[in-house]
Parts: sequence; structure tokens; C-alpha cells
Amino acid sequence: MTQAPRKIIIDTDPGQDDAVAILLALASPEDLEVLGICAVAGNVPLPLTERNARIICELAGRPDMAVFAGCAAPLQRNLVTAEHVHGKTGLDGPQLREPTMALQPTHAVDFIIETLRREAPGTVTLCPLGPLTNIATAFLRAPDIIGRVQQIVLMGGAYFEVGNITPAAEFNIYVDPEAADIVFKSGVDLVVLPLDVTHKALTTRPRIEAFRSLGTEPGRMVAEWTDFFERYDMAKYGHDGAPLHDPCVIAWLIRPDLFTGRRINVEIETQSDLTLGMTVADWWGVTDRPANALFIGDVEAEGFYALLTERIARL
Ligand code: RIB
Ligand code: CA
Repeated sequence: MTQAPRKIIIDTDPGQDDAVAILLALASPEDLEVLGICAVAGNVPLPLTERNARIICELAGRPDMAVFAGCAAPLQRNLVTAEHVHGKTGLDGPQLREPTMALQPTHAVDFIIETLRREAPGTVTLCPLGPLTNIATAFLRAPDIIGRVQQIVLMGGAYFEVGNITPAAEFNIYVDPEAADIVFKSGVDLVVLPLDVTHKALTTRPRIEAFRSLGTEPGRMVAEWTDFFERYDMAKYGHDGAPLHDPCVIAWLIRPDLFTGRRINVEIETQSDLTLGMTVADWWGVTDRPANALFIGDVEAEGFYALLTERIARL
């Protein structure tokens, strides 16, 4: 008997890589039932991330998808954005059409709380692709929902790759370290896709051309988004391509066999100015701190891009 699709809520700060992740999820109805898409401030401010989420849903042919606007700033700090990577709109690269689908009137945090209280315990997975502000705010406002979450599968952090926004910290964690600390200490079953794995899923020329040669608008948009997105990382790291971060979260849900990792303890630095937002990952088990996360370290990149291309072709 085939398994029912997994119920997920995507929390996101689009971002070209978030866009590819959302398209992958919406192209995979046999695997995933997307209950809603929650925008959070991150790569660009909230008015843009919620607009971008709606643009992506319309591109996927899903103007019916429920898109919610969430928190406009981190719990305690000023917002740090990443226009230097994603461009002014957050989705720079191709020409964009203004979305016509409506934004839901409910706040994303209320949607997360209401959904977790309505759905059976242990049946909804949260998939954060940006700063963890919405998730942490929901946990602070409604602690009763924490035990009802099936799993949190997130893109964030780093160990061997260390930082991308500072020498010590990855962007999603760095923007709201207090929120990340709440999530990582929540006791919810965590799967973390850090820079260690996303930097092994590089957008090479053949991989981008495979999207473009689909001959569809989604294929063309993904190719033009990744063309734009990769310029920054290629200049910085000198790689042949850029890490395609957020789709690793959705791909792990669909094909966990493509990934390998280790259950370890991961804690968040929230005090030090020098290492603020660092994910202190006990990969080598040198402490007796209890494991709280499956920390993914590797991916079979060809299989990852084959999955991405095959599913984007469906849209
Ligand atoms: O550090 C990479 C992460 O920060 C990705 O989620 C990217 O979209 C940005 O949000
Ligand atoms: Ca993101």
C-alpha cells in the first residue's frame, strides 16, 4: 500500500534557492502535501519574501496555495538581509510578474499554531528554509504545539564549512540566533541540512542547462535564478557552481537515501560577538551533550539534480 503524502509547512525567505525548493515540493504531490507556505524576513525584508512566495506558487500553477506573512524582524535583533547574494528583489535574474493570488489574512505564526493544534499529533513536519523566527515565535506563544510537531527538517548551520555570513555562522542561524536556540533546545526531532552538505550540491553548467532545456517556463526561471544566484558564490569560493541550499531540505524528505549524516548534539552560540550564530556541532562526540539532531554531511549530487530536474519538468 502506498504511503500517504507527508504533511509539511514550508517556512521561507525567498531567495532563489528557496524558490527551487518550493517548486520541488509543489511538483511532488505523491510525496508531500504542502499545508501552507509561511514567509519570514531573511534574504530580503518580509514584504518581498511574501510577494516572492506568491510569485513562486503562481509559477508552479498553484495560485490556490495558502501563503502567509510572518515575522518582519528577528526576536531580539535588527534584521540582517542578503541582497548582495539574492539581489534587490530577492529573486533577481529573470523578469518577474507581480503576483495576482491573494496573501492570506492570517499571520503565519497563527497559521502554524492553528494547523498543529488541528492536525493529529505527530503528523505535520515543519520545513524552515530561512531564519527560525516564525517557528520560535509559535513555540513561545503556544508551547502546547511543540509536542505535536512530527519533525523539523531545516536548512541552516555548518560544521566543517563553518560560516558564510561571518567566519563562524551560516546566514539562517546568524539572522536570529535566539530563535535557533529555542528550536534546537525544543526537543523536537531535528534534521539539519547545513552548509556541509549544501556545498556538495553545486549548480554546474550542465545541471543548469538541464533545467533550461526543459523548454518550460519553470525550467527557464530556475535556470535564470541559478545563473544569477551562483555568480556571488563562484566569485567567493572559486567553485564551478554555487551551493543550492534549500532544495536539499525537500529532496531529503523525498529521497533521504541520497543523503548521509550523523545524530549528534548541536547547540547555538547566542552570547559571543565573535561567533554569534555558530552551530556548535559535536560531530566527533567529544562531549556528553545529548544528540538532538540528525546532521547531514553528504549528498549524492548527481541523484539530487536528477530528482530536481525530473520533478521541475512536471510543472
Ligand atoms: O545560508 C544559506 C541560507 O540563507 C539559504 O536558506 C538561503 O536562502 C539563505 O536564506
Ligand atoms: Ca532561504
